[in-house]
Amino acid sequence: MTTGMAVPLKAKISAMPRRHVLDLDDFSKAEIESVLDSADAMREVLGRDIKKVPALRGKVILTIFLEASTRTRVSFEQAGKMLSADVINIAGSGSSAEKGESLLNTALTLQAMHADLIIIRSPQSGAPYFLARNLDSVSVINAGDGTHAHPTQALLDLMTMRRHIGDLAGSKVVIIGDVLHSRVARSDIYGLAAVGANVVISGPTTMIPLEMLRGRSEHFPASVTIQPDLDKAIEDADVVMALRVQKERAAIGMLPSMREYTRRWQVTDARLARAKTGALVMHPGPMNEGIEISSSIAHGPAAQIEEQVTNGVAVRMALLYQTLAGTGGVEL
Ligand code: CP
Repeated sequence: MTTGMAVPLKAKISAMPRRHVLDLDDFSKAEIESVLDSADAMREVLGRDIKKVPALRGKVILTIFLEASTRTRVSFEQAGKMLSADVINIAGSGSSAEKGESLLNTALTLQAMHADLIIIRSPQSGAPYFLARNLDSVSVINAGDGTHAHPTQALLDLMTMRRHIGDLAGSKVVIIGDVLHSRVARSDIYGLAAVGANVVISGPTTMIPLEMLRGRSEHFPASVTIQPDLDKAIEDADVVMALRVQKERAAIGMLPSMREYTRRWQVTDARLARAKTGALVMHPGPMNEGIEISSSIAHGPAAQIEEQVTNGVAVRMALLYQTLAGTGGVEL
């Protein structure tokens, strides 16, 4: 219910037993569900006229975005501000990184200013792990590192699916496109495996990790299968997720032509008709409309793309609260 004043919400949110959020590969089903339960409560705060609670008053959050971002950067900033934390944004350009300061020295400098949390997006896979290993008193959240992981995107994807489907155990999720270079797909695969969903990967074989093609299950969860033919992969799917085509890859010969890609792997009305009735269509954004997804699907009734963005704010509020608050839980 939307109201003009901040009504106490009877939601008790427990703190998380981890200091950092780096990927989902070590999250249990119970831990994922705890984050999603907290995020559901946070969505109620998001629906209020006065979207502010004092939960993180006095905490200092720094965002370091060394790569472009709209959704992740803005939603973390919004989430921190709604929880009354002080949020300071740092970009590569305009910081001393431009003068050659290393990432470690930048982070140690911010730690010396008594920051409580650093949120980092970096083109370098592993950068958040490096910071987590080298900082004593600061939490680290990975906002996307190279081609490696994007755990907060995966959590918002799981939240979106759970709010529509309920228990995701046994559900079928088809992920389409450049899985090889997609940090979103990788984190989604681990999160979906933890909650018992079955993942089918579809796309050009040049864009599917070799370990998956060779069936080497020690490198990926056993619940993942591959079906390059999208018309077959999409049969009876509960969720259809298109990934962004990274056009720069076409130039280096890893993709067929855009025309061929569109013909074989675009999510279209005809293809969606093969999925379960009421199947959800998702996309992490930003989209190339007319390439990996048709405009009628992107803006049609099955699309959850804007809901993913809303849930992204709620999930990030939950993670900020859970990593930064004490152990007692809070009434919002
Ligand atoms: N999905 C995602 O990470 O989007 P941004 O690059 O806009 O943050």
